[in-house]
Amino acid sequence: MFESYTQTIEQLKNLSHFRNIKDFEKKDEKYIYLNSKKLLNLSSNNYLGFADNKQITDEFLNYAGDKYSFGSASARLLTGTLPVYKELEDLISEIFNKEKTLIFNSGYHANVGINSCITEKGDVIFSDKLNHASIIDGMQLSKSKFFRYPHNNIEALEKLLIRERKNFKNAVIVSESVFSMDGDIANLNKLIELKEKYNCMLILDEAHAFGVFGKTGIGVTETLGLTDKIDLIIGTFGKAIGSMGAFATGRKILIDYLTNKSRSFIFSTSLPPINIAFTKWIIENKLPYTFEKRMNMLDIGQKAGSSSHIIPIIIGGNEETIETCDILFQNGYFTLPIRPPTVPEGTSRLRLSLTTEITEKEIFNAISLAKQTK
Ligand SMILES: Cc1ncc(COP(=O)(O)O)c(C=O)c1O
Repeated sequence: MFESYTQTIEQLKNLSHFRNIKDFEKKDEKYIYLNSKKLLNLSSNNYLGFADNKQITDEFLNYAGDKYSFGSASARLLTGTLPVYKELEDLISEIFNKEKTLIFNSGYHANVGINSCITEKGDVIFSDKLNHASIIDGMQLSKSKFFRYPHNNIEALEKLLIRERKNFKNAVIVSESVFSMDGDIANLNKLIELKEKYNCMLILDEAHAFGVFGKTGIGVTETLGLTDKIDLIIGTFGKAIGSMGAFATGRKILIDYLTNKSRSFIFSTSLPPINIAFTKWIIENKLPYTFEKRMNMLDIGQKAGSSSHIIPIIIGGNEETIETCDILFQNGYFTLPIRPPTVPEGTSRLRLSLTTEITEKEIFNAISLAKQTK
């Protein structure tokens, strides 16, 4: 019986697809330590440096004292809800100017839970081809049909809508705002135009933009002044906020529906109160003071040819990508090879992510080294 696992693992190794967990010695907001080497962390989602930051941890613990426990011991609908959960949900509703919010345990939980139940048999979902695995997994669990349109291709989406929309009752368009592997940004104005023209609901995953884009940091919809046009906005707390968890915010009716139907929400122990309190504390006390740093980070990203703080360096083959990572490693940079199935075959890459701690000089040195070895 175990032979098939061995075969699969051998196959993964032969194709340079095998993944293993790295034993880092420590991390701070800028560097990561591996094999006794101090490396500039270019693979972090800790965009604002809030995670692994001793001063911030000390400050928070000083504030929190012994007010919050380290385990909720129950799902939200049972006994796993305390005032701080509602306070965080109300805070998110307030900053997005939406009716109601629901916290999920992670972005993965949110996307799986939402995309699996937001449509029913006879309905349809239209999803960008490069949407995150959690969105795809959710749609696969759904009883409705789904179509994946070519990445960011509005014409192709409209053709699909013309052909298919009439065959279904309810329809949803789902997209990321900042795409996690390419760092480009969805054409939100056009998506809104299409969702209105073809009577669809629009769900937007701002996982990589929440805490980074916009005047107050709520995401790309804020930059573009479109927050009120999106039916359901998803954001994660595990990236820029430096915590854990996620949220969905929108109309009360949608949030009530998710509370009753979303299985990843219903059937899982809620996050620890201390973690919810940390998220709320960061959003209230740290995020408001990051505007200049965030804009500087996005400016560096643009100079490096991206639309965001995520800079893809496409190498192509798996082996060459791993070799390039090794060379960067020897030179003091930590990057990870991103390979299929995370990205399409033949587009293996380095995904360099900026943080507010990384300077223009540091990122340009890393990019030129990666390109030399390509
Ligand atoms: C676009 C997108 N959505 C959701 C997630 C999952 O979020 P989390 O790490 O909070 O589970 C990710 C994680 O990489 C992501 O890139």
